Amino acid sequence: MRETAAGLREVRRDPRWAELAHLRRTSPMCDAVLDEVRGRHIRSGDHWLIDFASCNYLGFDWDPEIMDAIAPAVRQWGTHPSWSRLLGSPQLYPVIEERLTALLGAPDTLLLPTATLIHASVIPVLAEQGHVFVEARAHRTVYDGCVSARGQGATLRRFRADRPDELDALLRAVPSGAPRLVCLDGVDSMTGGIPDLPVLAGLCRERGATLYVDDTHGFGVIGERAADELCPYGSRGNGAVRHTGESYDGIVLVGGFSKAYSSLLAFLALPSRLKDHLKVAAAPYLYSGPSPTASLATALAGLEVNDRRGDAIRADLHRKSVRVLDHVDALGLDAPTGHRLPIVEIPLVDASELEAVAGFLWDQGIYVTLAAYPLVPRDRVGFRVQITALNSDEDIDRLNDALTGASRRFALRRRS
Ligand SMILES: Cc1ncc(COP(=O)(O)O)c(C=O)c1O
Repeated sequence: MRETAAGLREVRRDPRWAELAHLRRTSPMCDAVLDEVRGRHIRSGDHWLIDFASCNYLGFDWDPEIMDAIAPAVRQWGTHPSWSRLLGSPQLYPVIEERLTALLGAPDTLLLPTATLIHASVIPVLAEQGHVFVEARAHRTVYDGCVSARGQGATLRRFRADRPDELDALLRAVPSGAPRLVCLDGVDSMTGGIPDLPVLAGLCRERGATLYVDDTHGFGVIGERAADELCPYGSRGNGAVRHTGESYDGIVLVGGFSKAYSSLLAFLALPSRLKDHLKVAAAPYLYSGPSPTASLATALAGLEVNDRRGDAIRADLHRKSVRVLDHVDALGLDAPTGHRLPIVEIPLVDASELEAVAGFLWDQGIYVTLAAYPLVPRDRVGFRVQITALNSDEDIDRLNDALTGASRRFALRRRS
């Protein structure tokens, strides 16, 4: 911070943010204000776009049954509970936690407003003055939780999920006895990749470490495998641990309702003893305002809809995602498409073209997430496409045409 002539303090600009700050000023696809939303069609000024930046994978944000659940709940509980959870929780909380615990097949669950708050508060509690290992591509909010743990006395090292031997060496190098926490994403929020959880969980168990998995993009999309599953995402959408055939032994899973379930709520799947401890040790349980009643009601209604219609919705989501992924593969783009999830990262050869690419997609009426530096490493600058069940087949045709056009005009990275 430095003093200005007017005496106000001005934040010193970190040069790392310069590119993103420039994009924010110049691109209509960054920091936009939207004037109208009709499902996945959105209007900015007089320009209509198809939304491929939504994380509402199951289309619950416009599901009439889920929308109808809000008003009765608000009439019963008011708009907002207002107490911190330690002070008091409406019955909706234990009802959701019980249903969620059963769906996940976890020992117990604890609801808090957001995954960001969970990472910031729970990672330092689990780390104590021990050792934290964070995956190189872990979500920024996970990383921030780890940095906070370091600030409270833990050590912090990076590892790569695809190099388990290196993680093993790191775990062996720390003195025994002190807590060890290994943090990573269950589904990579940019690439849609899924790490080899069985290998990593086995390693952590062997070395006495807790595996902390952020599954905000997996919950609701991937789930347990079953002979009669309707698509390779598996059944029930109960998350990365079940999808990979793992148990919750030694694993703390964090999931969110803010993506597939279109609601402002998040959870931990954890042992009951840890849940009791977090009720006095995790600041948001003690001090934060809770999720609004509308979020609790939509989460509960979403769980009901998931039980009845979730697998059919996921099969449709998979079919639509494959249409995009196959097209991306046919264009020869260097997009990691292996897990066939509805998240497609398209990197550019030349990061400085991002603004022009964004302008082209905007003109084509295609709305995507821009992945500028430092949101992603320099060599992954590009854009992210997300498909939701609410995108129509005509929307996908338009997207695929726009991707063809972009790949002709710009240097999108190609598979070597
Ligand atoms: C991987 C990942 N973790 C955490 C978050 C933050 O979730 P929440 O909105 O619940 O704080 C996001 C949101 O983009 C995310 O992609």
